Amino acid sequence: MLIDVSAANVIDVYHMLTGVVTPRPIAWVTTLSPAGVVNLAPFSFFNAFGANPPVVAFSPSLRRDGTKKDTLINLEARGEFVLNAATAALAEKVNLSSAELPSDESEIDLTGLTTAPSLKVAPPRVAESPVGMECRVRQIIPCGTGPIAANIVIGEILVMHVADEVLDDKKRIDPRKLRTVARVGGDYWCHTSDLFELKRP
Ligand SMILES: Cc1cc2nc3c(=O)[nH]c(=O)nc-3n(C[C@H](O)[C@H](O)[C@H](O)COP(=O)(O)O)c2cc1C
Repeated sequence: MLIDVSAANVIDVYHMLTGVVTPRPIAWVTTLSPAGVVNLAPFSFFNAFGANPPVVAFSPSLRRDGTKKDTLINLEARGEFVLNAATAALAEKVNLSSAELPSDESEIDLTGLTTAPSLKVAPPRVAESPVGMECRVRQIIPCGTGPIAANIVIGEILVMHVADEVLDDKKRIDPRKLRTVARVGGDYWCHTSDLFELKRP
């Protein structure tokens, strides 16, 4: 099979891309709307890119009708978000929070989750998640104007809330305790419990 992207259907390109670039970690993002409604949504076009300062990037793409998602609108208006850890115990709620609700309704209510206040940003974190990272937007880079066009949000982490229960005895994250989930192709997700160790050369 050969795909010339310039002539291909965008949905086919999306499925090929997200089937190959796997597993993708999930940014479970809280933002505040201009009216003060807490928005929660998962994004698997996501990763971390440096630690000094700690920066992350994720992409709320344009909807298939070309409109902006609530998360992007909120970030453009307020420039702050919280990155919550998407864990195995919370996977069903992570998925449920991807429902496209009107902007005046909160996915926090839909999922039955609760929030805890942040220290340095206005959006709260998800209280049930063992990790909440408070972030300030550094840059938003739009890439294209059509359906599923990326909007790369680069955020700087200001504060990390980490529950003691997911730490090892050196106060580092123990992946066997945090148990994040990730996105594979289609509707498939994966656990991070199939671990193996390699020592760096
Ligand atoms: C696991 C998972 C990962 C997702 N990743 C993305 C993504 O990277 N980018 C995106 O635009 N939508 C992604 N979505 C869909 C959004 O979560 C969905 O469109 C959501 O309604 C957006 O919410 P908002 O309009 O409140 O911002 C994903 C959904 C799921 C379940």
